[in-house]
Amino acid sequence: MYTPSIIAVLALAIGNVYADHQCLCEEDAYGIADNYGLLFSNYTNEFAAKVVTTDYHVQTDSVSWLSNNGTNCPYTLGKWTYTNVTELQVAQSTQPNITWINTHVFWNCERVFVRWVSPLENQQVQGISIILPEKNPRNDSAVPWLIKTVFAEFNTGSWVANFHIPIGTSPCAAKKDD
Ligand SMILES: *[C@@H]1O[C@H](CO)[C@@H](O)[C@H](O)[C@H]1NC(C)=O
Ligand SMILES: *[C@@H]1O[C@H](CO)[C@@H](O)[C@H](O)[C@H]1NC(C)=O
Ligand SMILES: *[C@@H]1O[C@H](CO)[C@@H](O)[C@H](O)[C@H]1NC(C)=O
Ligand SMILES: *[C@@H]1O[C@H](CO)[C@@H](O)[C@H](O)[C@H]1NC(C)=O
Ligand SMILES: *[C@@H]1O[C@H](CO)[C@@H](O)[C@H](O)[C@H]1NC(C)=O
Repeated sequence: MYTPSIIAVLALAIGNVYADHQCLCEEDAYGIADNYGLLFSNYTNEFAAKVVTTDYHVQTDSVSWLSNNGTNCPYTLGKWTYTNVTELQVAQSTQPNITWINTHVFWNCERVFVRWVSPLENQQVQGISIILPEKNPRNDSAVPWLIKTVFAEFNTGSWVANFHIPIGTSPCAAKKDD
């Protein structure tokens, strides 16, 4: 049986856990969504290193499928597309900047949900991204949250039409990470 003083100590401990657990506010959510968009519209390796975690993870079959470029899936569908910031930098630094508009930003305590569109020349590309951020351990008031994990999909059909990418025909085994 707990004595009242132990209950008081437990209550204090639980209270502190919640006090330390900072929820995203509107400003946080929009800041995270803006930085995410800038990874596609205004990309530099330095910027990526500033706004994503070193263990940045992305799962997007849209990107994996496009990156496979008609070959037999070096980027396995259903698996993590990138598993650290270096993989993002290697891939994204070869890409052109595109116009990027976050049309809707939703959030809860710990996640940001973005609907976005890129009005490319021939056909728009729209997509949805789920972003899991992490408090920035570095003292950078301009970037209070880092982007840690992203789940995203978009209209690869329009992307193919705009960038004239071959449509893959090789078989690709799908595996699930999570
Ligand atoms: C785009 O990148 C340049 C060069 O890194 C930077 O000076 C500029 O502030 C960035 N634009 C936005 C909107 O962040
Ligand atoms: C994308 O934008 C950034 C910031 O303006 C610029 O430094 C970079 O060279 C651009 N990338 C390409 C491929 O043009
Ligand atoms: C994609 O494949 C085509 C041939 O099907 C090739 O011409 C092109 O260079 C490849 N693109 C990349 C980025 O590897
Ligand atoms: C990133 O991941 C790649 C592939 O798994 C690995 O070769 C590389 O060493 C990693 N880089 C860092 C900085 O963790
Ligand atoms: C964080 O940075 C600000 C502004 O650069 C500085 O005033 C402050 O002392 C720094 N705080 C810590 C804990 O380093």
